[in-house]
Amino acid sequence: MATSALRLEGVDAFYGDSHVLQNVSFELGEARMLGLLGRNGAGKSTCMNVGMGLLAARRGAVSVFGEDVTKLSPELIAARGVALVPQGRRIFRSLTVRENLLVAGRKPDAGSKHAPKHAPWTMDTVFAMFPRLKERTSQMAAHLSGGEQQMLAIGRALMGNPRVLLMDEPSEGLAPQIVAEVMATIRKLKESGLSIVLVEQNPNLVFDVADDIVILNTGGVAVVSTPAALRQDDALLRQHLGVF
Ligand SMILES: Nc1ncnc2c1ncn2[C@@H]1O[C@H](COP(=O)(O)OP(=O)(O)O)[C@@H](O)[C@H]1O
Ligand SMILES: [Mg+2]
Repeated sequence: MATSALRLEGVDAFYGDSHVLQNVSFELGEARMLGLLGRNGAGKSTCMNVGMGLLAARRGAVSVFGEDVTKLSPELIAARGVALVPQGRRIFRSLTVRENLLVAGRKPDAGSKHAPKHAPWTMDTVFAMFPRLKERTSQMAAHLSGGEQQMLAIGRALMGNPRVLLMDEPSEGLAPQIVAEVMATIRKLKESGLSIVLVEQNPNLVFDVADDIVILNTGGVAVVSTPAALRQDDALLRQHLGVF
């Protein structure tokens, strides 16, 4: 992998005294998609929180396009081009769709080395990607369906004009048809050149779109592989993910 978009190296992380991540290392290549798998409680969201700077690594290092961001605040990490679509969506329920997008807006620093390569995201380009949101511009987010709320959460992340997109279980709680729509969107985002970490519990969703796979088990990296290799290894999947 020539350039790494996001890299965790030997990361240990704690919630209070609880030692949740142990010596976690993985690397997301530029314009690639890394599928991050693991059972409930394996540490996937914690990795995303460390990548975004919401939880500090107590040991180890985090870098974005080769720059060390280990000690930076979430705001400064966002300015380096990282955006998180959090688990459970976390949109502002009492704001309208339009307001949710507006407050998430961040212009790329034109000309800076942190600027994304594609055209900047605006309200219009987000609505072009999610026509259903456009129809609901003035509706309160609380009144959207689960799928629409997920689209809004993704739209909010895009308004930050990221180069690295961290998506934490975007399919959670959605009907299969809506999951397929969300996955089609994720595929388009990858084709636009974004580097993406896709967190999921269900490997079958990830295997079709990801280039690389990391499986976490009880706070550590258990497997680093590819979809092609893992499809052949039911025993390994069962060991770390349970039965699918
Ligand atoms: N805010 C928190 N405070 C204390 N423990 C937490 C907190 N969030 C998660 N944990 C614990 O950390 C471990 C990893 O959680 P998490 O990263 O959310 O896993 P995953 O996203 O893979 O389901 C779990 O044992 C969980 O109970
Ligand atoms: Mg989680």
